[in-house]
Amino acid sequence: MKQIIKECKRCSLFKKRITPTIHCGDIKSNILFIGEAPGKNEDETGIPFCGRAGSILNDLLKLIELKREDVYITNIVKCRPPKNRDPKKSEIKKCSYLLEKEIELLKPKIICPLGRFSSKYILNKYFKKNYEIGEVHGKVFKTENIIIIPMYHPAAAIYNNKKINILKKDFKKIKKYDV
Ligand code: URA
Repeated sequence: MKQIIKECKRCSLFKKRITPTIHCGDIKSNILFIGEAPGKNEDETGIPFCGRAGSILNDLLKLIELKREDVYITNIVKCRPPKNRDPKKSEIKKCSYLLEKEIELLKPKIICPLGRFSSKYILNKYFKKNYEIGEVHGKVFKTENIIIIPMYHPAAAIYNNKKINILKKDFKKIKKYDV
């Protein structure tokens, strides 16, 4: 998996990246968090959520008595979009085969997409519907085998104090399920 990610040239993001982000955490975890795309710190280290958004994610996990090492963390787009711009639809489309492989290998019981891009992708994948994050954050969606709880992106809390309280409330929903 790591090698496939490192060698991927399906979209042009590989040209300007330093390194792609590889997942982190427990490859046997029941719970999968999916971010958006690497930022500067992630591009330098290859570790998802290792910057400011990452420390907010760590705090949110701590709130529900989990550590990064207990969960599986990845991104929907593995290479940094230049100047941290939003990932393009075409980039998500080309990169998503990697996330699909990760879901296949991990077989998570809970998926928490973080932010609008991964939430849209996951809810579209399982429910064939185009939801906006504002209407679905913190809601529990169930398929036969998987519980999906979309969340606002932790970075949203950097610039917006209200969002941290919403994130805390939404993260507590994870605790209701046996992970
Ligand atoms: N934001 C993301 O969506 N992913 C990261 O890895 C870092 C910041």
